[in-house]
Amino acid sequence: MISVVIGGGTMGAGVAHLFLAGGHEVVLVEAGADRALAARRAVEASLAKAADRGKLDAVPHELLKHLTVVERLDDVGAGASLVVEAVPEDIELKRQVLKAAANACPDAVLASNTSSLSISALAEGLPGERVLGMHFFNPVPVQQLVELVRHDGVSAEVVARVRGWAEELGKTVIEVRDAPGFATSRLGVAVGMEAIRMLEEGVASAEDIDTGMRLGYGWPMGPLRLTDLVGLDVRLAIAEHLAAELGPRFEPPALLRDKVAAGHLGRKTGQGFFTW
Ligand code: CAA
Repeated sequence: MISVVIGGGTMGAGVAHLFLAGGHEVVLVEAGADRALAARRAVEASLAKAADRGKLDAVPHELLKHLTVVERLDDVGAGASLVVEAVPEDIELKRQVLKAAANACPDAVLASNTSSLSISALAEGLPGERVLGMHFFNPVPVQQLVELVRHDGVSAEVVARVRGWAEELGKTVIEVRDAPGFATSRLGVAVGMEAIRMLEEGVASAEDIDTGMRLGYGWPMGPLRLTDLVGLDVRLAIAEHLAAELGPRFEPPALLRDKVAAGHLGRKTGQGFFTW
């Protein structure tokens, strides 16, 4: 099948890797020659990592023959069954991209990898029966879950089809109603924000808060290191959205705002709650 991935950042490159490993023909869309090249490099690096760990059944360069990187949605070509958008968490940008995808890929399911934005709002003005949330987790090839988000207008047949595709790729699916933060971001952000408040209040050091959850609760990494991995800016945007939708219990702590304002966005900038 032909799958289109829009956005070649961490999530888009991970989704492209997953689809290639699952035997899809993949068209990755990333605007601008430099960014398109960086997106291709990110997919290559991810496949190489998986191969090094013995997690890939095929040789990376064979899989990469099935990857096309284009700079414009108009260049995607015909025949796509699935489009996954993984552009930044900006509702206007996502709407614009999905609208263009609906025209460029008239037969495709249109999936958004948003972490928290309303799928009903994204589906406005689009053929809603083929729009849904398909939420992947970082690192995409490793994390077992796909969270499918249903809004009222999506067809049951489309949800079943996407579930089937995700399961063929080896993922476990949960289905969630279109509610703010769905199931995963709402809980993940709640713990993340509380860990930052605890750090602000001097309850324990960042290292000890994380070690507590890692060794006490069996988390693979603690909530502060995870915030660094996801990106402080990304988590701040989700928390602000959840505070607006669900109330002040999601209000982001001042420490998070200060770090984002200082450009300390986590692993991607080398500094967050930890130095990378
Ligand atoms: N393909 C590609 N890369 C792979 C891979 C594979 N099959 N297997 C491992 N890797 C990568 C890892 O991502 C990691 O990358 P970096 O070198 O860039 O750090 C590296 O190879 C090392 O992997 P290891 O398995 O040796 O390392 P580890 O045992 O420490 O595991 C981890 C790393 C998988 C990230 C683990 O710590 C983990 O599961 N952490 C929790 C992650 C998590 O909670 N993710 C959800 C975030 S929330 C989200 O994504 C949703 C949202 O909406 C914001």
